[in-house]
Amino acid sequence: MGDVILKADRIVKHFGQTHALNGITVDIRRGEIIGLIGENGSGKSTFSSIISGVYPPTSGSMTYKGETWKPTDTNNAQKHGISMVTQEMGTLPGIRVADNIFLGREDLFTHHGLVNRKEMYAAAKEAMARVGIEDIDPAAPIAKYSLEDRKLIEVVRAIYNNPDIFIVDETTTALSQKGRDIIYSLMRKFRDENKAVIFISHDLEEIMDVCSSLIVLRDGDFIQQLDKSEFEENKIKMLMVGRELSGSYYRDDYDGSHGSEVVLKAEKVYLSSTLTNISLELHKGEILGIGGLTDCGMHELGKVLFGITKPMLGKVSFGDGKEVKSPKDAIRRKVGYVSKNRDQEALILSASIMDNIVLPSMPLLAKGGLIFRGAEKKLTSGQVSNMSIKCREIGQDVRDLSGGNKQKVVFGKWLGNNSEIFILDCPTRGIDIGVKAFMYQLMYRLKQEGKSIIMISEELPELIGMSDRILIMKDGKIMKEFERSENLSESSLIKEMV
Ligand SMILES: Nc1ncnc2c1ncn2[C@@H]1O[C@H](COP(=O)(O)OP(=O)(O)O)[C@@H](O)[C@H]1O
Ligand SMILES: [Mg+2]
Repeated sequence: MGDVILKADRIVKHFGQTHALNGITVDIRRGEIIGLIGENGSGKSTFSSIISGVYPPTSGSMTYKGETWKPTDTNNAQKHGISMVTQEMGTLPGIRVADNIFLGREDLFTHHGLVNRKEMYAAAKEAMARVGIEDIDPAAPIAKYSLEDRKLIEVVRAIYNNPDIFIVDETTTALSQKGRDIIYSLMRKFRDENKAVIFISHDLEEIMDVCSSLIVLRDGDFIQQLDKSEFEENKIKMLMVGRELSGSYYRDDYDGSHGSEVVLKAEKVYLSSTLTNISLELHKGEILGIGGLTDCGMHELGKVLFGITKPMLGKVSFGDGKEVKSPKDAIRRKVGYVSKNRDQEALILSASIMDNIVLPSMPLLAKGGLIFRGAEKKLTSGQVSNMSIKCREIGQDVRDLSGGNKQKVVFGKWLGNNSEIFILDCPTRGIDIGVKAFMYQLMYRLKQEGKSIIMISEELPELIGMSDRILIMKDGKIMKEFERSENLSESSLIKEMV
């Protein structure tokens, strides 16, 4: 086993009423990729933020390389060799790529009080090239680049100083395979150089694959540390949720029956290079799964069905034949849409839980043109308790909630609006098993109440586990339809996807 590089001793962190950490004592060793795992809100980000200087603990102490560790801020921590790629977007929008990489460290390029920008751009270019990013211009404004590219720029910033402890917080879930591979290879490189890597991810399979040991947190408590030889999926899940998960948390019936009434349909829909001749019908009380590789067109299809994107040819309409014209129109007709990109598209992060939840229900709540605060509060409190949303108060910004609780807010807003049709694009993406199980139960209950659901998903077990019927897409076309069945295998779906 490697030497201990950092010791955390009884770390406690309170945010007002919230007890995020209750006294975490762990050793972080060199030469390892250590997974930090636990349900949403278990304290993973808080713990890594304390190590990396985002904020100090409420109490408790740390030792780093044998000395007391009290970083004053993230730049200070980074200077001493601890850096983190955050879960949230960690780049600043208004400035250039190179400035993001070297923010707070301009002194590296300052001569006689002036920043030599040419030198800075060259250094940024070289730093990016070292991790295999060739196509980003260091002088360009950061806003020009995609979420993924910005995340990678943040990674470049984090590793510039060649850290001794490199922390990656839930970054990979938002990235494509190429982005993930860049991060994985960096983590392995640091491990091989006898440094320590802390890796936080919701994806149990991913974390079991990448890590050599695991620290499990639950509700701010340290639960257990496991070695690779002890990795076993059900055991880890059990430690995370504190109870044995029965083999499956999907519905357990194989009766794929539903109403015959068509509530939403697409006819011969075409969309430039992404969708070709898509026709489908969603029935009352049906869970219709749509699966495929991420670029098969299914996410675009979701947007077309909700009226966000207009098809070039063909038509999307309700059961009565009326065309779906716009999201506003769809909402009025009781359609709810959960976007794959929750933080960018489904929520207003800087607004409160209440403002997010009541948004689509405004027409319902307005009486004679007036909206009563009391009615808004009632609707919101109803959904917060209905969905068991973990929060301090309904006026709290959505930004501070954990991923799973954010997703509950998104669901809450459509339930509060009494939606009849739900278009869910990757509804359980980036949320952990406890909340996942809750979402599956909710979907099944909605089905039984006669609501209709389109579930677009990249996860085959959830498609097979929840759908009455599955459409598999490839290159913008529907390849095949599968009925719900006990004998449906992942491999039969995969054959149609690739
Ligand atoms: N800045 C903050 N202000 C208030 N509460 C917070 C803040 N950051 C985290 N929390 C709360 O602390 C708990 C732990 O959160 P977090 O560390 O983000 O969990 P995880 O990363 O495991 O999902 C949660 O209940 C969360 O709502
Ligand atoms: Mg987190």
